[in-house]
Amino acid sequence: MRLDKFLVEAGVGSRTEVKQLLKKKLVEVNGVVETSAKRHVDEKADQIVCQGQVLGYEKFVYYMLNKPKDVISATEDNHHKTVLDLLDKTAHDKEVFPVGRLDIDTHGLLLLTNNGALAHAMLSPKRHVDKLYQAKVQGIVTVEDIEAFEKGIVLDDFSCQPAQLLIKEVDEKAETSLVHITIKEGKFHQVKRMVAARGKKVVDLQRLSMGPLVLDQSLSLGQWRRLTDQELVALENFKVEI
Ligand code: URA
Repeated sequence: MRLDKFLVEAGVGSRTEVKQLLKKKLVEVNGVVETSAKRHVDEKADQIVCQGQVLGYEKFVYYMLNKPKDVISATEDNHHKTVLDLLDKTAHDKEVFPVGRLDIDTHGLLLLTNNGALAHAMLSPKRHVDKLYQAKVQGIVTVEDIEAFEKGIVLDDFSCQPAQLLIKEVDEKAETSLVHITIKEGKFHQVKRMVAARGKKVVDLQRLSMGPLVLDQSLSLGQWRRLTDQELVALENFKVEI
């Protein structure tokens, strides 16, 4: 691959920044200063050093974000802060994007990557990837609601697949319930609309997991970390299996 492409993908900087670094003789290939952006390198065999640092080649990057409210699941927006604004420079240089969307007022697990094939596998309606949400509901959730979710809630424009509803807590006095809902689809406002179809209202929604990926509870809202090797293996196996 071209040296400038390698350097951008290694997270060194933008194409323009990389050109400057080359011009300033700050890049070495196998111990020899290289100034040509067009130079072809073998990313597996050649040793590439930039400003004294040996660069490892990473084509794909994966971020787990604990998305806060009031931030939108997009890469750009004229009015709101986006999830990309919360990540680092590498995420921008590598052009990561969110794998699916959470509503502006939903918080919790969001995966961001530049691996289009993985994103496609996770989002494909044919693959039925489980998404687990914790919802605080205004109203008392009942056994009838559980059965209705199991049968498949019918919305105005869409019949949902069977979904699992688990009652975690009920506060009779406040008339609120805390539930876990697992859905296999990802239609617009799906969880909120399913709960509304039962005459109740979601007042807080958090995503806890998506396929094999579970929200790291040590991440506070707005914090992120790269996926661990273990999580990457789990995702890769999952992609093959589903
Ligand atoms: N369902 C919703 O209603 N909102 C989300 O953000 C995700 C699932």
